[in-house]
Amino acid sequence: MDYVAKLDQAIDRLHQEGRYRTFIDIERRNGNFPHAIWRRPDGSERPITVWCGNDYLGMGQHPVVLRAMHEAIDATGAGSGGTRNISGTTVYHKRLEAELADLHGKEAALLFTSAYIANDATLSTLPRLFPGLIIYSDALNHASMIEGVRRNGGAKRIFRHNDLEHLRELMAADDPDAPKLIAFESVYSMDGDFGPIAAICDLADEFGALTYLDEVHAVGVYGPRGGGVAERDRLMHRVDIINGTLAKAYGVMGGYIAASARMCDAIRSYAPGFIFTTSLPPAVAAGAAASVAHLKGDNELRTQHQTQARILKTRLKGLGLPLIDHGSHIVPVIVGDPVHTKKLSDMLLEGYGIYVQPINFPTVPRGTERLRFTPSPVHGPDEMDALVRAMDDLWSHCALNRAELAG
Ligand SMILES: Cc1ncc(COP(=O)(O)O)c(C=O)c1O
Repeated sequence: MDYVAKLDQAIDRLHQEGRYRTFIDIERRNGNFPHAIWRRPDGSERPITVWCGNDYLGMGQHPVVLRAMHEAIDATGAGSGGTRNISGTTVYHKRLEAELADLHGKEAALLFTSAYIANDATLSTLPRLFPGLIIYSDALNHASMIEGVRRNGGAKRIFRHNDLEHLRELMAADDPDAPKLIAFESVYSMDGDFGPIAAICDLADEFGALTYLDEVHAVGVYGPRGGGVAERDRLMHRVDIINGTLAKAYGVMGGYIAASARMCDAIRSYAPGFIFTTSLPPAVAAGAAASVAHLKGDNELRTQHQTQARILKTRLKGLGLPLIDHGSHIVPVIVGDPVHTKKLSDMLLEGYGIYVQPINFPTVPRGTERLRFTPSPVHGPDEMDALVRAMDDLWSHCALNRAELAG
């Protein structure tokens, strides 16, 4: 086998399909988000404004979080030094798990190194706990859920995105006595639409199924204490397993599930993705716990966040730009062609110092390639004006379609 040639072929395929990913090298500046420095490949630097981050509330630079991390590093050193089982469970991990269990009104929570791993490890382990388990998975679920369901060797059914009738049809066709679980998300991050949590919980009750809800794009951001959309809609008690991240609105790193004490105990004891890996550094756990605790009480930041999203959507719609608006904090502007999307993203970066990564297939369906903006409370009016002006210029310059403006 010519291994080098095989690698070249694999990479060439991506280039041919316009799917080769280029990472932009940025240096975020603490205290100065969303401003950053872009390090160009030629070594030169340019100041930019980041408009596509998932640090939705700017908690990655919040003094409360940074202080907790500094204190933990000074107190305990860098890494945890072990898996959770072998010397890697510290007071910081326990404190964070207690904070998360409280956030979601559950008996327990279990930390993972990321929400990707939490999804993958939990969903791939559940059939070992419930032999014969059938998992019903929304067609637009995140890759980490797809991977967990795919690897678990159990039965799976994919229901059309948010299609309750299809979900019902699939469940009704299966053995009524088979154990079942419905896996879905509260906020789908590419369109910013919401999962029908109450209706899915109703179906779960009707068919005796468990529910698994990914709240990765909602924790910290929705609900009176940041518990997510299920908290906002008073549905947390109806969801069996809630998955969340500490890396987006909480601004740090790590993922988790919150569930009954028994469920967490079983996953803790059976999931290789939990057992056989070093636990998060204590300082990361300390920073995340401080962030979760802070956001339980900071509704002002959540309100500002929603206001920013509404302002940006209103202004872009006012220019007739084709954006998707499901009332969430995510602002996707559809371009509909991978080459144009990349070009627009390059022009925004080079010409205006605005960084928004192009989103192409397979992350979104072909023909819906887009720029996905994530306005936050740390984007001020000047940054907003600059973005809106740049989009207006580029839409005209590239002669892209605009919607008819009412009136
Ligand atoms: C819906 C969803 N679930 C899980 C994850 C994984 O989260 P993490 O970055 O903590 O691994 C992501 C990441 O983007 C996501 O969008």
